[in-house]
Amino acid sequence: MLKIGVLGSGKGSNFQSIYDAIAAGLLDAEIRCVAADVPDAYILERARKLGVPAGFIDCAPFKTKIEGDGAQRMLDFLADHDVDFVALAGFMRIVKEPLLSAFPERMVNIHPALLPAFPGLESWKQALDYGAKLAGCTVHFIDAGMDTGPIIVQRAVAVHDDDTAETLHARIQIEEHIAYPEALRLIADGRVSVVGRRVRIAAHPPA
Ligand code: GRF
Repeated sequence: MLKIGVLGSGKGSNFQSIYDAIAAGLLDAEIRCVAADVPDAYILERARKLGVPAGFIDCAPFKTKIEGDGAQRMLDFLADHDVDFVALAGFMRIVKEPLLSAFPERMVNIHPALLPAFPGLESWKQALDYGAKLAGCTVHFIDAGMDTGPIIVQRAVAVHDDDTAETLHARIQIEEHIAYPEALRLIADGRVSVVGRRVRIAAHPPA
């Protein structure tokens, strides 16, 4: 069983989708804790309401990465809650050492685009501005780059002519809430292996 620590910065709808999949018996995992780098992030309130241990982790002085002392504080928090797998869910920082090496092939992220297109911020807006006809989301392992790790699951959505940034992001999020539990289920079932850049998905769990 995966013992998951969820890291977020925002409203936590992806955390909720993982929680719901576990509660429905669709994912053999436990969310051991939720950590946020923003003290009033709604993900913390959401977690507390559900009875999941939740804490703010000070990542100062950096704004866009988690590194050094801040990363060590996060590692301590995760260790205190007996976490063996990390799921980034709207966590708005690039992961650096010592956190990066602490969970080899045990740390994943969800990104609101069909990577490698549109890494970085507000990817749904990037897709719209570019004129892409397909947008979507990607669940991938974390590596040292920004949104570059091996891809586990992707789901696409059509871009509509009358889409705004808000309507497109809302439809992408519907797919995120399917993709994230699905990727975690594949991992929990032992069906995922990483071979170089490529993730192989076995047809069945190991015997
Ligand atoms: C999602 O769109 C996710 O792909 C991106 O940040 C957003 C977080 O949403 N990384 P939520 O906090 O899970 O609702």
